[in-house]
Amino acid sequence: MAQLWGGRFTKETDKLVFDFNASVSFDQKLFEQDIEGSIAHVVMLEKQGILTCGEKDAIVRGLTQIRQDVAQGHLLITDEYEDIHSFVEAELITRIGDAGKKMHTGRSRNDQVALDMKLYVRKETIQIADCLYELLETLLTIMEDNLHTYMPGFTHLQKAQPTTLAHHMGAYFEMFKRDILRLGDLYHRMNYCPLGSGAFAGTTYPLDRAYTASLMGFEGPTLNSMDSVGDRDYVIELLSSLSTIMMHLSRFSEEIIIWNSNEYRFIDIDDGFSTGSSIMPQKKNPDIAELVRGKTGRVYGALMSILTTMKGLPLAYNKDMQEDKEVTFDAIETVKNCLVLFRGMLATMKFHHKTMEESAMKGFTNATDAADYLVNKGVPFRDAHGIIGRLVLYCLEKDSSIDALSLEELQAVSPVFEGDVYDAISLKTCVEKRLTIGAPGTEAMQEVIRMNRDFLTHVWNREHKTNETM
Ligand code: ARG
Repeated sequence: MAQLWGGRFTKETDKLVFDFNASVSFDQKLFEQDIEGSIAHVVMLEKQGILTCGEKDAIVRGLTQIRQDVAQGHLLITDEYEDIHSFVEAELITRIGDAGKKMHTGRSRNDQVALDMKLYVRKETIQIADCLYELLETLLTIMEDNLHTYMPGFTHLQKAQPTTLAHHMGAYFEMFKRDILRLGDLYHRMNYCPLGSGAFAGTTYPLDRAYTASLMGFEGPTLNSMDSVGDRDYVIELLSSLSTIMMHLSRFSEEIIIWNSNEYRFIDIDDGFSTGSSIMPQKKNPDIAELVRGKTGRVYGALMSILTTMKGLPLAYNKDMQEDKEVTFDAIETVKNCLVLFRGMLATMKFHHKTMEESAMKGFTNATDAADYLVNKGVPFRDAHGIIGRLVLYCLEKDSSIDALSLEELQAVSPVFEGDVYDAISLKTCVEKRLTIGAPGTEAMQEVIRMNRDFLTHVWNREHKTNETM
């Protein structure tokens, strides 16, 4: 048990207490960030005349070597230490002696951990946005390739009106586009540096907080030292956005599972992205989609966990906040994996165009257009609705469809029908006449695809990808 404190204690910490208190088993994930933050801190201490140039150089060299030794496996992070901060500091002191004891001047583990966590979450936010970007690219390509792939659209999971695969994929494109924009927003809100806040009340040393903030690519220092060590809002915001991403992925997965079912057969999931059954030789299961749907729960769980952890905490730092890490790390890993696997599954999936189109032709998806046809001939909409309803009933008895009835049969229900009705209610017309922006008609879709291509190649890259940060 190696500790940073002990002067005011007369007894050793109980072993169970030490273990219960320790976080090194999981906060070693913050090792890189801890080194980066410490280097920025001592560079600033020297600039302010608090450390000599020699002391600063010794510390920076020591930290750089520790980083290298851990990366190359020469130095192991062991659970002898309470947390990653204690490990790094103790190792530094062992290596360089007294200068190492000065590294923590003007700093508390409270602002240190606040910084480490923020650096980590900031880096991961960019990686998740990159995964989302790839998914958006894949979706847009499918949209471009499927402007004329007709399929039924559903409400209440009942066939409603015909649409296209491009249109259906476009709905998910918009969802994931909002998700990536949300990450961009929260990135900018979180990008302020807590270092220099000390335990909670700042420090009497003349630290240059703006300088350390700029060294680490922050927009500036945070403006209240109590808030700085007590704030985990940015973790909550990220987890909330991750939950929304998972909710979208889960809905999409549910549709893929349905489309992959024996009853639908709209798609074939590539062999590389499916699994078999140990007993039923005929099975090819959509496990990736099911796992993505299933893993949504643990990401929601992470959000609920931190919201609950934070809700009763008095200012400023409390040890409860150590609980922010494991669930956040797990949620980040889960979302990245889900995005990568989901994208791979989508990019290799086969869409059965013919089955989709045939399905769209059944189930009276052109009933609304048939009513609109009558309206165009002067029939009030409510009457037209009733006429088509009676036709549907007639078709159900005959096991037929509206477009398969003869003109005489149609005219028996309403004399307004003429020969042009067949073209007016064909699948193609039903889709292609829908040309308001956002609708599935080809020109409307092409315009939306153009705008979204522009979003990917110009808007997102210009606003969020300059200088390799968002
Ligand atoms: N392991 C702690 C955490 O994750 C580091 C901060 C400890 N600060 C303290 N005063 N005990 O929050």
